[in-house]
Amino acid sequence: MNIAISQSALTNQKADIVISFSFEDDSLLKATKKRLVELYPTASAVVNSNDFKGTLRSTMVIYTGAKGASKVIVAGLGKKDSCTAETLRRASSAAAKRAAAYGVQSIAIEAVLGNGLTPEESCLSLLEGAVLSNYKFDKYITSAKGKKKINSITLFSDSKQLVAAGKSVSAMAKSIYDGVTLARDLAQAPNNEIYPETLAKAAVNAAKGTGIKVTILDKKKIQALKMGGLLAVNQGSVRPPVFIVMEYKGGKATDKPFVFVGKGITFDTGGISIKPAAGMSDMKGDMHGAATVIGGIIAIAKAKLPVNVVALVPSTENMPSGTALVPGDIVTFMNGKTAEIDNTDAEGRLVLADALHYASRYKPKAVIDFATLTGACVVALGTVTSGLMGTDSHLIDQIKKASTRTNEYVCELPLHEEYEDLIKSDFADVKNSGGRWAGAITAGLFLKHFIGDYPWAHMDIAGTGMAPSDRDYWPKGGTGIGVRMLVDLVKNWKA
Ligand code: BES
Ligand code: MN
Ligand code: ZN
Repeated sequence: MNIAISQSALTNQKADIVISFSFEDDSLLKATKKRLVELYPTASAVVNSNDFKGTLRSTMVIYTGAKGASKVIVAGLGKKDSCTAETLRRASSAAAKRAAAYGVQSIAIEAVLGNGLTPEESCLSLLEGAVLSNYKFDKYITSAKGKKKINSITLFSDSKQLVAAGKSVSAMAKSIYDGVTLARDLAQAPNNEIYPETLAKAAVNAAKGTGIKVTILDKKKIQALKMGGLLAVNQGSVRPPVFIVMEYKGGKATDKPFVFVGKGITFDTGGISIKPAAGMSDMKGDMHGAATVIGGIIAIAKAKLPVNVVALVPSTENMPSGTALVPGDIVTFMNGKTAEIDNTDAEGRLVLADALHYASRYKPKAVIDFATLTGACVVALGTVTSGLMGTDSHLIDQIKKASTRTNEYVCELPLHEEYEDLIKSDFADVKNSGGRWAGAITAGLFLKHFIGDYPWAHMDIAGTGMAPSDRDYWPKGGTGIGVRMLVDLVKNWKA
């Protein structure tokens, strides 16, 4: 994706299609129309028709005749006083999608200020909405081969201030595009493309040229480290596990790193406690946590943020076979604790347990794990909001703020110790399933047994990782959830 910023007039754009915005408020809509008719007298019929009212997500197409690009798409922003960063993302996304439907490759977007937003926030939001909206996982559709997609976006304005702001955020917009797109591609890819070893290769490839150091721990090293949870889930699988370590040192050598941990189950059949057939293919996305933390560290490194970050991914398939883990088995983890297996489909927490213990060696500033962990979280919050849990109110507070700024919704669930009763085992330190009640919370409490002496937060993205349909700049399928939030969190971190 090529992103350019230009100080220029609406009628001077070289892109295939130009996008401009209008508020819904009477006087502002009138002013837009007056300007458009002055610039494009031949378009007065459509402009004055009243079909376009400036409401959010609505668009109007003007055939310009001679001046500059052949079409201008005017996109509604709704009322000015409710124009937030998210409004700008959504309006920009609606306009970019309308443009993409014409099969064009380049668009130019006229910058506009949101209500109470800085020029930088406004420009970044407009770019985000446009670059994230035209994602399609169509590489396996042979008839889509060679189809044109938007690959060049110019943000323009005749205001010096907006142009300067655009220039200051364009590298960030590109980094976010790269990180989110990578996460979506990884999450959406089927298991015959992305399995543990190819996930590791994808991490190595993505890190090229970013300064991120990638280390892949293979099965032998995982055995030597006694990562009993990861090995237990893997033991039914022909394909070996990997443990991916990515390290980005953008901060001072003495700065403690943020550690991100991502669940990397490349396919979850449920194992011996096998899942029903209907909808099982969604479980190719059971490594969205991994996709989030890999996409996140890539975006942070590409944006050259001055922080230290480590991403950890324990990865395996969860398969039933003659060698698979069975209910009743007792597993010993890297930290020496034991768990009784009640349900082999509660496998995510087993691999995360070892990774959360491994994280301690970095003496982290904070650890955040992302996991498509429980169906219970989807029942509670649907596909709109991620479940948030953790041990540290400062970290939770910073995550909530980042979530508000990026519009990646979170809702905190309580880790009250009373729920521990549900995962008590008669034969081991803890049981890996607590049954149906409070399923997202008991999963969080299980993880808590394995954290080290660091602030910790857990994000259950089971519902938000895979979207059931397109929504604004989120595509159906792997959403890339969490990448933007991680970038925002470390960028705006307050100690
Ligand atoms: N990967 C699933 C959770 C999931 C469900 C993700 C739906 C995305 C959409 C996880 O490994 C799982 O199977 N969890 C079980 C846990 C239970 C056995 C305690 C669940 O939620 O049913
Ligand atoms: Mn499972
Ligand atoms: Zn799973």
